[in-house]
This record gives sequence, structure tokens and C-alpha cells, in this order.
Amino acid sequence: MLKNAYETFMGARNGLFLNWFGFLVMKYWLRFRGRREYDYNLPFVKTREIFKKHNLLTNHDVYNNGDHLLSWWFLAFLRFRNYRELGAREFLRYFCETVDKKSDILVTGCGTCLLMLHLFRKGFANLDGFDYLPQVVQVAKGIDKLAKSDFTLWEDDGFNPLRIKKKYDVVVAVHWVFSAWKGNYFNKIDENKNNKMLLQEFLLIYAKFLNTGGLLMIELVDSYASQKRFVFQDIYPIKHSYPEVEECAREAGYCIEKAHLCTESGWEPRIFYVLRFKGKAGFQNSE
Ligand SMILES: C[S@@+](CC[C@H](N)C(=O)[O-])C[C@H]1O[C@@H](n2cnc3c(N)ncnc32)[C@H](O)[C@@H]1O
Repeated sequence: MLKNAYETFMGARNGLFLNWFGFLVMKYWLRFRGRREYDYNLPFVKTREIFKKHNLLTNHDVYNNGDHLLSWWFLAFLRFRNYRELGAREFLRYFCETVDKKSDILVTGCGTCLLMLHLFRKGFANLDGFDYLPQVVQVAKGIDKLAKSDFTLWEDDGFNPLRIKKKYDVVVAVHWVFSAWKGNYFNKIDENKNNKMLLQEFLLIYAKFLNTGGLLMIELVDSYASQKRFVFQDIYPIKHSYPEVEECAREAGYCIEKAHLCTESGWEPRIFYVLRFKGKAGFQNSE
């Protein structure tokens, strides 16, 4: 009862404060810092309505028995995730500088398509995306319509995609795989697979949907996070070391093009890997 009252109070506080105030502060902060490029340029009231309509505004909406605080997805919109999350910002900067604007791009676990929107505003026109949760896809479609971005969006499971229709030059898998492996977002945990098997399986799945020479960009939790001396949280149990990723990549027909470590956002150090698909998927023995 007390807990419920607390959550309702926090929800209302968040609702009143963060909704409007947080949004305006971030918006003008970005403007002040000359970072308009990260502004979503979405009307606040209409965007909020879309979240509300599709039950994605609070954790309670999403998880039924969750608390009344604002959901990750809505907070990501309010607090300009693309700008505030240093890993995401660095990733987007790298992406815009290196990827050809005409590339065919697939964003897996795309959430409400805010990352795609940033890329669209930077001149990438061929963007497709999917997400696991139906209401997230509905919100993404609403935002897509509002922004007139004309993305192709659908519902699919990134661990067993059934509705991908073509091959891509770039496949993006940021900020979801390590969390979904833990069972978040209603994913099922497979106890029989170890960390290496999970990654190998993932890389092999997307090898089928990449053109030769194409890129898979994946964000993983670095196994450095297991060093309790440095990290006091153990939020995401599925972690990988650089040599492990290198081995899995080689066995699935990729090579590591770039790895960018980010220790400043999130609970545990994460690495953004850019893997180039060399066109020979399958388990090969390394000499
Ligand atoms: C933290 S959000 C990140 C969204 C987006 N990738 C971004 O970086 O802004 C994680 C997203 O992954 C989605 N997700 C989780 N498991 C998934 C799965 N098995 N297949 C596809 N998407 C999944 C969730 O529904 C959620 O929208």
C-alpha cells in the first residue's frame, strides 16, 4: 500500500517534472551547446500522446505490474538518448562519418526508432527496423508518421527473425542484445547456451542477412565488468572479452573492423564492435 502510494507519487512527480521540464531543459541545453543535430524535432505533446495511446508511457503500462515511473522508451525521448548516452553518441558519430549514405541499413531492436530518426536526418534514406514488443513498434510507426521519415518497421524477434526479406549493407544491434540475453523485455533465457555460443549464434543469424563486405554493429558488455574490483554492479551476466569476440567473429566469417569501449554510460563497460562480414559464414578452424 505504502509502496504503491510512493510509486504513484514518484510517477506523478516524474510526470509533472520530467515530462515538460526535463524535455525543455534538454532541448535548450542542446541548443545552447550548439548540438541541434541531436534534437529529434518532434512535437512534444503529439509524441507524448503516441506513447500514451500505445501504453508505453510508464513501466506500469508496459509491464502491467511495474512501477509508475516513466518507461525507458519515454525517458529516452525526453532526455535525448542519442545525445546523453555517450556510447550512443560516439556510435552515431562514427556511423555518420564512415557509412555510405546510400547503404541499405537494418536496425534490429530499434525501439521507438529515435536512433533511426537521427540517421535519417543525417541523410541516410534506406532504413528498416524491427522490434520485439508490439507496443514499441506501434509507437515507432507513430513517430515515423509524425516525422515523415517513411521507414519500414515491423515486429520480429532479433534472436529468431522471421520477417527479414532482403540482405543489407549494415545491420545495427545496439543497446539491446546483452540485456535481452539476460531475459529482459520478455525474452526467454536459454540456460543450455554459454556466453560464447550465444554470440556465435547471433553472428551466424545476421551473416545470412548481410551482403559480402557488409557491417554488423553490435554493442556488448565487456567481460572487464566481471572484475569486481572495478565494477560493483553485476547487471548483465552475459559479457564477452575482446579475444572471445574475435574468435566468434572469425568462426562466423567476420573480422573486427573497430571496437570502441564506453565506460561512461550505463552500469557496466560496454564495447561497440564493428564487424565486417567477409562472406564465408560457418564454423572454420583457425590455424
Ligand atoms: C533499451 S531499448 C534500445 C532501443 C534502440 N536500440 C536504441 O538504441 O535506442 C532495447 C530495445 O530492444 C528491444 N528488444 C528486446 N529484445 C528483443 C528481441 N529479441 N528482438 C528485437 N528487439 C528486442 C526492446 O523491445 C527495446 O525496444
